[in-house]
Amino acid sequence: MQLSEYLAQADALAHDARALLDGLDPSTRLDVAKGQLNALKDERFNALQAALRSLSADDRRAAGTAFNALRGAIQEALDLFAARQAKGSGADAFDPTMPARRGWQGTLHPVTLVIDEICEIFRELGFTIALGPEAETEWYNFGALNFPPDHPAMELHDTLYLGEDTLLRTHTSPVQVRTLQRFAPPVRVLAPGQVYRRDFFDATHAPAFMQLEGLAVDEGISFVDLKATLAEFARRFYGASRRVRFGPSYFPFVEPGAQMDVEVDLNDGKGLRWVEILGCGMVHPNVIEAAGLDSEKYTGWAFGMGPARIAMSRHDIHDIRLLYDSDVRFLEQFAR
Ligand code: PHE
Repeated sequence: MQLSEYLAQADALAHDARALLDGLDPSTRLDVAKGQLNALKDERFNALQAALRSLSADDRRAAGTAFNALRGAIQEALDLFAARQAKGSGADAFDPTMPARRGWQGTLHPVTLVIDEICEIFRELGFTIALGPEAETEWYNFGALNFPPDHPAMELHDTLYLGEDTLLRTHTSPVQVRTLQRFAPPVRVLAPGQVYRRDFFDATHAPAFMQLEGLAVDEGISFVDLKATLAEFARRFYGASRRVRFGPSYFPFVEPGAQMDVEVDLNDGKGLRWVEILGCGMVHPNVIEAAGLDSEKYTGWAFGMGPARIAMSRHDIHDIRLLYDSDVRFLEQFAR
């Protein structure tokens, strides 16, 4: 091969390689681009390399320089393409057919869902939402609620005290008194909120948990209103076919005190059984008086329940700690 012929072929190959790579869309994968380049150049490149040996010593030096230049030119064209590819090229780089990344959507906690659902049912029954502080005084948490001064619930080992007279409320019942002090009857409120007890964190207890308090006070309210309203709530929450029953219970701030059980299926193969879902009763006259109302004129009823327990029986959850773990893999099963 003549030197002039050699130089022309090397030049042509450099030109063709550059033209190929410059013509590629920047979204082309690098390995695909290299494959096309190799298909174009390998045979001609190897032939030029082999031809070096057949040239005279003088020609070989000039041809060798040209061959190295060709190699450099190909590498440069490839680098240019890679740079173009990394930058993308505006609108051209957007591929509308590319599958989107799956969006992650949060959901409400199963206990929050239960609270919302219960609030919604009572809203339809004429109740509004009331809130009270989580740091309470002894008077609101115990005294106004007719606890005798030496009641065991007030012991240090049951209650988390913040100071002389302040504590983390052990139930949402203080909201009863706060509401009656602020609003004249008729009063119908639902008070959801966090409460605190000095309990071990085990499968059935948590030292901090949600409660849902209900209160209805007006002239002429009787136990019939309590039973009818709570039974109606249970029908709407659990389904019309579920039976409820009331049994006696004791809380210092109600008289008479009761508990309501609902017949539920815990999906454990044992069928229907009675589960206590709330404590309730007629508001004690001493509580009505403590709030500054005339207990001869006004009567009322109240209830308190634990939405975590309700979520557990609803979803067949056997360890309350699962509700506090914030493990999304567990919680997302209950997403709505
Ligand atoms: N406060 C009670 C408790 O924490 C529940 C309750 C509320 C009972 C209202 C009766 C009436 O256990």
